[in-house]
Order: sequence, then C-alpha cells, then structure tokens
Amino acid sequence: MGKKYGAVSFVQILAPELNDRMLADFLDMESSLIVSLHVQSLDQVKAIKTVKRKITDLDRAKIEEQKKAVRAGYDMDIIPSDLATYGNEAKKLLQDLQSRNERMFLVTFLILNTADTARQLGNNVFQASSIAQKYNCQLARLDFQQEEGLMSCLPLGQNQVEIQRGLTTSSTAIFIPFTTQELFQNGKEALYYGINALSNNLIMVDRKKLKNPNGLILGTPGSGKSFSAKREIANCFLLTTDDIIVCDPESEYAPLVERLHGQVIKISPTSGDYINPMDLNLDYSDDESPLSLKSDFILSLCELIVGGKEGLQPVQKPSSTVVCGWSTMIT
Ligand SMILES: Nc1ncnc2c1ncn2[C@@H]1O[C@H](COP(=O)(O)OP(=O)(O)OP(=O)(O)O)[C@@H](O)[C@H]1O
Ligand SMILES: [Mg+2]
Repeated sequence: MGKKYGAVSFVQILAPELNDRMLADFLDMESSLIVSLHVQSLDQVKAIKTVKRKITDLDRAKIEEQKKAVRAGYDMDIIPSDLATYGNEAKKLLQDLQSRNERMFLVTFLILNTADTARQLGNNVFQASSIAQKYNCQLARLDFQQEEGLMSCLPLGQNQVEIQRGLTTSSTAIFIPFTTQELFQNGKEALYYGINALSNNLIMVDRKKLKNPNGLILGTPGSGKSFSAKREIANCFLLTTDDIIVCDPESEYAPLVERLHGQVIKISPTSGDYINPMDLNLDYSDDESPLSLKSDFILSLCELIVGGKEGLQPVQKPSSTVVCGWSTMIT
C-alpha cells in the first residue's frame, strides 16, 4: 500500500498460560507494527457446556487408548502424553469457569508488520515470530487472507479472520491494560514527574494532595537526579505560587536560582552574608510570647558558643548579662 510492504500474521496461542510481558515485547520492537486484538465474550452456560463436551471427548479417546493397550498387552496407564495434558487442562478450565468466577473469551490476535522493502519486511516478521516463540506461541502468516487480515487490523471493529482461541478472563486480562499503574492527578497544580515506561502516559502529581508530600530522588551517579530536581523546581516555579527553598551544601543550584531571579544566600565563614540570631519574628509562636522564646534560644546559643564544656556559670545566666555579652561579641 503506497510505498510500503505489509504482512498480516496471527498469533497462535499454544501456551496454557501467558505472560503479560508478551504484548510489551511486541510493542518494544523497533520496526513499525500494528497489534490488533478482537475479544468476544462467550455466554457462560454455553462455555461450560462446550468444555464439558470436550472433556467427554477426551475421556472417550482415553478409554479407546486404554482398550488398545489391554489388547496389545501393555500397561493401560500408558496413554499418549498429549491426551493426558489436554485432559488435565480441560478439567482445570472447567473448574476455573465453575468456581473461580472466570468467563470465557474468544480472542483473535493479529499482527501487521510493515516495512519499506520486501526484504526488510521478512526480517521484521522473523523478529516478531521469535518474540512469539519466546512465549510459547507461534506466528502464522495469513495465507490467502491478507486482505481480510488487513481489514481486521484497522481500527474498524470488524473481525474477518475466523481463527479464534478461547481464553479465560485472567488470560485475556493480561493483554489489557498491560499491568501499568497510572499516576495522573488532575488539578491546576499537578506537576509533571515523567513518563510511564510501559504505557507512555504522563505522570502528573500534586504532592500537596498526597498523604505524605515528601519525596526522595534515587538513582545511580550521573543518572539525572539533580536534573530531575531542577526540572521540578522550574515546573513548580512556573505553575504555582509556592515558595522554593533550596538547601544546597555544594552550591549546585545557585545558577538556577539566579536565573529565576531568586536570592542566593551563602553561609560560610568567608561569605558576606550573615544571619542575625537575635532577629525577632512576631509570628514566631502562637501561644508563648515570642520574646521569651527568643531569650531562651539566645541563652542556649551562648551556652553553646561561649560556655565551653560546663555551660554558663549561674552568675552569667541572667538574661541582661547575656545580651550585653552578645553585643560585645558582635562588635
Ligand atoms: N532528561 C534528560 N535529558 C537530557 N539530559 C539529561 C537528562 N537528565 C540528565 N541529563 C544530563 O545528564 C547529566 C547528568 O545529570 P545529573 O547531574 O542530573 O545527574 P546526577 O544523578 O545528579 O549525578 P550525581 O550523582 O553526580 O549528582 C547532566 O549533564 C544532565 O544535563
Ligand atoms: Mg547530582
């Protein structure tokens, strides 16, 4: 079609149990391909009846084999292994349907590979086929049915391929919606936190709405931890009116803060920025007087910096002396 080559194949699901990585592996292929799944639910009563009929058929075949064994003179427990496996699988399926609230679905699983050249197409189909084999399935080209296959692959909701496979609810469920946990909070202040690796959906979170708004960025050296923190800061700066306070021992964030016209305060013995420990904030506390709290703080500060090992002597303690002592220290 156009200048593209394409080939439709169906996936024969031979494995009794499927792994949810299969679909992800198909979608991870580098070449372009369309995966279509037609899922049709089956009436529960009809499904149970069908399975029961199959079990009866298998039992009959088993009895035939046993008769043959007796006639030929060998142990009648020896029956073809396929027969034994199918019998067990069918019984398990019946039990799932009857007691585990499973339903039956008929699934048609199609894959449309496309490529620029016929040769490239061959390679792509081969690659898809090896993925199918990895999960105990087989990829079979839809011979003489390519047009029906193409129509069934298009998003028209029409299945013209009559090859179907019965699967239970849990086996069908692995195809949708991949096993991803989506994290998408609506809201004006939801920030971008990356892309879900499996579903490629955005991860949007408003930390302030979470039960615990704290976050931790983990990663190997050089994997982009600082980058992600800076990106979050920029996102937060552009979107919200929140205050951003960075405590940064390595002065890594100073250029970013300067770009955002923020204030960089350097605290070090050689810097020109100072902190005034006696600065008084009248909103310091709701119940106690800010003044007495501040005096307590300064007392313990002095105890730490001038008191030495034993702390302050009782005579040094009265607050007036302390404040005098402090002011002489500053001058
Ligand atoms: N999403 C990204 N897109 C493009 N470049 C990126 C991305 N994330 C990180 N980088 C680049 O990768 C390099 C390392 O990133 P960064 O310094 O953030 O890693 P780190 O985890 O903080 O490292 P360290 O453990 O040394 O602190 C930087 O040059 C950064 O620009
Ligand atoms: Mg870093």
